[in-house]
Amino acid sequence: MKLGVCYYPEHWPEGEWVENARRMRAMGISRVRIGEFAWSRIEPDPGRFDWAWLDRAIEVLAKAGLDIVMCTPTATPPKWLIDRHPDILAHDVDGRPRRFGSRRHYCFSGRTYRAESERITRAVGERYGRHPAVAAWQTDNEYGCHDTVVSYSPEAARAFRSWLEDRYKEIASLNTAWGGVFWSQEYRSFDEVDPPLRAVTEGSPSHILDFRRFASDEVRSFNRAQVEILRQCSPGRDILHNYMGVSTGFDHFDVAKDLDVATWDSYPLGFLEQGNWSDDVKSRFMRQGHPDFTAFHHDLYRGVGAGRWWVMEQQPGPVNWAPWNPAPLPGMVRTWTLEAYAHGAEVVSYFRWRQAPFAQEQMHAGLLRPDGSDAPAAREVAQVASELELLGEQTTGRGRVALLFDYVAQWLLETQPQGRDFGYFDLVLEFYAAARRLGLDVDVVSPDADLADYQLILAPSLPIVSQQLVDKLGAGDAQVVFGPRTGSRTEAMHIPADLPPGLLHALIPLRVSRVESLRAGWSEPGAFPATRWLEHVETDLAPRASTDSGHGLWFDTGRVQYLATWPDEGLLEAALTDAASRAGLAVRPLPDGLRLRRCGDLQFAFNYAPEAADLVDHLAEAAGFDFVLGGTQLEPGGVAAWRAS
Ligand code: GAL
Repeated sequence: MKLGVCYYPEHWPEGEWVENARRMRAMGISRVRIGEFAWSRIEPDPGRFDWAWLDRAIEVLAKAGLDIVMCTPTATPPKWLIDRHPDILAHDVDGRPRRFGSRRHYCFSGRTYRAESERITRAVGERYGRHPAVAAWQTDNEYGCHDTVVSYSPEAARAFRSWLEDRYKEIASLNTAWGGVFWSQEYRSFDEVDPPLRAVTEGSPSHILDFRRFASDEVRSFNRAQVEILRQCSPGRDILHNYMGVSTGFDHFDVAKDLDVATWDSYPLGFLEQGNWSDDVKSRFMRQGHPDFTAFHHDLYRGVGAGRWWVMEQQPGPVNWAPWNPAPLPGMVRTWTLEAYAHGAEVVSYFRWRQAPFAQEQMHAGLLRPDGSDAPAAREVAQVASELELLGEQTTGRGRVALLFDYVAQWLLETQPQGRDFGYFDLVLEFYAAARRLGLDVDVVSPDADLADYQLILAPSLPIVSQQLVDKLGAGDAQVVFGPRTGSRTEAMHIPADLPPGLLHALIPLRVSRVESLRAGWSEPGAFPATRWLEHVETDLAPRASTDSGHGLWFDTGRVQYLATWPDEGLLEAALTDAASRAGLAVRPLPDGLRLRRCGDLQFAFNYAPEAADLVDHLAEAAGFDFVLGGTQLEPGGVAAWRAS
């Protein structure tokens, strides 16, 4: 694994570049990402390019032996471009154009911006594509950041209509799919259809879901146009994009089909503060991050990148964008770096080199302080760089547990939550965390992935289940655990004709005759408390657990399990322990905060808790381990690694 950094030569006096590059190398950094916001400096006036400064910056970095990750600057179209072509701007949910003044102020569907994006991509690609120091390309920056996937512009409306025509061919099919007869919303032609915007009350959920699918496809085609140009201009280089945490606005598996590597931007403390956890959880993990959140995204992006993934931006200290922005525990930047290694990252790159004393992110830490001296993270980076040499070659293969993650499920459940707190992403994280508390390594994959080698497959919820998935699961002998609402909708977002779980009948003989959502704080007593969601199930299977009122919560064929509620920790633990044991996987219950991860013949332990942990308390054989890093005593935020047989 290599270390990298995000650098902005245009922010600093040119006289400092050489020394910056020297210090990067001295710290153990070998990759530098540049250029993603530099459009106004690359092309200060329409058609007038100023390459000289960037040529010199690249020469300085290359001379120091640094590899460059070059970016297309399309996340920040400059002012002159917006003034000339205001149709570039995305429109918000009230139908108003968003304004220039920060970043990502464009609509993915705009024809003018598509042409401009291709023009600037070609210009940068032709200039630097064959430079020997340019090792990789990043397209744009964080598609979807600041809620920018969906746009309601006239350009989006036009593109949506043609997307619908491709999908449905006949307007009658669209009317059937969307249930247009319901409130006299039938259309006579595709030209009559608008994006789902400013309706008096809720619009057809099928209309909304199709708009989300369309918006996702727009991100893919926008990205693909850049990729095609970069492949011509810069042969042999990896092309990648930096995705985000909790980012579900577009289908990342789909966009990744055009890329070589998936990368993501990891800000464990910022994400903890923004998440839906209780205040107690947030306080407990405020300087370490949630024990499963970062790992989940590592595993997700390994799946998105079909095995190849990086951390493109790693939090180095306090950030500026969460409700509160605490400093990480001393050593935490090192621990996060090693955790990425353990999950198979090829690169961990820190954001950013030096804290900027000006502009929007002046409160955001870097590896250097604003005055240019080392911030605490700088020492941790140097330390981890030498430790990586100790760890040697990193090998990660496919695991044995797969968790199915589906972007369409997210859009569908957002469109029709039915209970205010039924959040798909939260449910997924709960399944993932439960597996990790049992000491299992998890691959997060698309339902379309090849599942043949997995012994345990988790589907926290998957409202639309394809026949192919049912066939794959039916043909194998893996243990399978389905969460609530799986199979509850058709592709058009209708209730299946023979009731949920629809196609899943082939795998587990039950029918959901009624569902209820339960208000926050309400818990239906029973063997396991049912909260948030309760399905009334008809089946000949004897439930393994029920509410006191007689509703079965947990159904099991011996190979396939179905959970008819939002499972609490106890139910998840019971279901996953059974499934894992039947699958022949070793289960090791772990305490809150302690997590394991296997990487080749290396076994890592991470202590996310704010108190020390003794490995011997949880892994009796730990006293005899052949430690490569640390030992049996883990500091708060500490890490240990040993060679496992
Ligand atoms: C990311 C973004 C960076 C920077 C960073 C601050 O979302 O890609 O440009 O804004 O957040 O944490």
